[in-house]
Amino acid sequence: MIIIPFKKGIYAVILIIALFISALNVSITQTDLKGRHAFKEFESAKKCRTCHPGIYEQWSQAMMSQAYTHHWDEIEYFDLAEAHATAVPQLREVVDGCNGCHTPLAYMNGKFPPPRPAENSMANESVSCEVCHLIQETHSDPPFNFSYVISPGTTKYAGRQPSVESPAHKIITKDIFHTTEYCGICHNEKNPFGVWVKSTQLEWKEGPYAAQGVPCQDCHMPKGQYLNAIMGKPYADARLHLFHGGHDPGKVRGTVEIRIEPDVREAEPGETVIFTVALFNAKTGHKFPTGSVEDRILWLNVEATDAKGKVYHLSVDKKGFEGEEYTISGDYLAYQDLGIPKGIKDFKGLQRDGIPAGNRIFRMPYLDPDGNMTIMQWNTAKLGVDYRIGPRETKTEKFTFRIPSNVSPGKMKVTATLNYQLLVKPVADFLGVPADESEIIPVNDHSTWITILP
Ligand code: HEC
Ligand code: HEC
Ligand code: HEC
Ligand code: HEC
Ligand code: HEC
Repeated sequence: MIIIPFKKGIYAVILIIALFISALNVSITQTDLKGRHAFKEFESAKKCRTCHPGIYEQWSQAMMSQAYTHHWDEIEYFDLAEAHATAVPQLREVVDGCNGCHTPLAYMNGKFPPPRPAENSMANESVSCEVCHLIQETHSDPPFNFSYVISPGTTKYAGRQPSVESPAHKIITKDIFHTTEYCGICHNEKNPFGVWVKSTQLEWKEGPYAAQGVPCQDCHMPKGQYLNAIMGKPYADARLHLFHGGHDPGKVRGTVEIRIEPDVREAEPGETVIFTVALFNAKTGHKFPTGSVEDRILWLNVEATDAKGKVYHLSVDKKGFEGEEYTISGDYLAYQDLGIPKGIKDFKGLQRDGIPAGNRIFRMPYLDPDGNMTIMQWNTAKLGVDYRIGPRETKTEKFTFRIPSNVSPGKMKVTATLNYQLLVKPVADFLGVPADESEIIPVNDHSTWITILP
């Protein structure tokens, strides 16, 4: 009778210790890597280029080769994250951790912050050949927060056995190279509040492509005929290192297909016509937007043009779900927490959306501890409503339009346009981020018509 609760107590203690250790596991291994390997223990991508020139050129055009040097990365890391950690020292650990994904060699080199991009140090290698081909496995399930097992040396790891010997390195094959877990090591991220601020691999896992066995590699490293190394022979199914994503307008274009139809084809001024828009996500293997969701907006603009060329903007019908106010553009202030790293007292915030009012926005808001929207993922205490478009999901939106009395009779053309923006414009302008990061990227459009009776 007494033994049972006693045993239970022991088990409970053991269980608590075990849980504690497993919870700490990721962070122990991460901090362990800090300062463990100097820059000189690693090889530069320029060396790989001598024998792998094609793959090098592909990679050099992908964002992962610029994960540390790209303007917006430099601005966010130095002007916001570093500045925030100076104001709030408890953030030091998580801000050093940015480098664990954006420049793993600098993370292992252990000097924080690493040299600025202009100083041309090895931190500029970003997510290089060496980083990816020294990864042997992940020590977490699910993979997240750069939970890679990695060590320098002339043994590189890959998904296939070479057909010819490489004079420069040994190759050991690892199945993880074919899996999405490999990408999830950096494409899933949990912040200090325990919030999943990046979950691309987790989104994939619950979607249709996981069920059909279509990994990230099939869409971002497609198989094609290619010469992997100059002394080898071309493979028919070489893995191309394109890694094209949101920064390639061609990859974004057509991601969602859209159609718009009216409920009636003829109407008189003063009458009401309801337009329905169908948006089908035909291309992404995860949600759209994914990844840096705190920065991104995808929005639907509907306009009618009458027979004389006068343009009317239509507002989306409310559906009435919780948090919907975040998904319809309007005159709101947000991003007040930018005042902390920027040293502005009582910062009033910036315009939330920077696009015409009444448009539907497909997004998921990130909320700071005060409940305001934030683009600082490390300062995200909670996620808001998830109104993104899932893989192969179709969303429908309605636009109820009362034909104005002064409209010209004849054919009225009604166009639905879907646009994408990597960084909301008011934030880009405030932080001085070059214009290409807030350019409007057209995704798709479709037009229909009605006849306005006199
Ligand atoms: C002196 C030439 C040379 C250099 C330098 C070189 N490699 Fe290779 N590498 C090869 C050859 C040859 C192969 C085999 C290619 C084949 O299978 O056709 C190869 C294959 C590979 C493979 C894949 C295995 C496969 O089946 O193709 C990886 C991964 C790889 N190299 C990574 C690297 C990395 C990373 C670097 C730079 C740190 C590098 N290599 C530098 C010659 C080189
Ligand atoms: C983001 C990680 C990543 C980066 C960066 C990267 N690779 Fe790879 N590489 C992979 C993965 C994953 C595969 C294997 C995919 C598979 O087998 O399904 C691969 C495959 C290869 C192969 C064999 C190709 C094949 O047909 O299987 C070679 C050679 C190679 N990489 C060389 C390089 C070189 C050289 C660089 C730098 C210029 C580089 N990689 C950068 C992840 C990366
Ligand atoms: C070592 C960490 C790491 C690994 C492993 C990794 N990534 Fe990335 N990836 C990044 C970072 C960091 C960025 C952000 C680059 C930037 O700053 O814009 C990125 C960006 C991307 C982008 C966005 C490109 C764009 O145009 O915006 C794609 C696509 C991508 N990665 C695909 C992959 C795939 C597929 C894999 C697995 C084969 C993979 N990554 C593995 C760190 C990683
Ligand atoms: C069925 C094809 C497909 C699969 C599978 C897929 N993706 Fe994508 N991915 C896309 C398309 C299309 C885009 C461009 C639209 C966009 O930006 O979301 C994209 C965009 C991205 C971006 C950039 C997002 C942005 O706009 O900032 C990242 C990062 C990315 N993918 C990573 C991954 C990772 C990691 C996996 C695996 C877990 C994966 N993708 C699986 C098709 C795919
Ligand atoms: C777990 C890995 C990981 C960590 C930790 C991480 N990032 Fe990233 N970061 C990524 C990936 C992956 C992307 C690309 C997502 C996409 O393309 O949508 C990215 C994208 C970004 C972008 C957008 C790049 C662009 O051009 O749109 C910025 C800026 C950025 N990260 C800054 C930071 C800062 C600052 C920190 C630290 C507070 C940080 N990251 C921590 C993986 C990480």
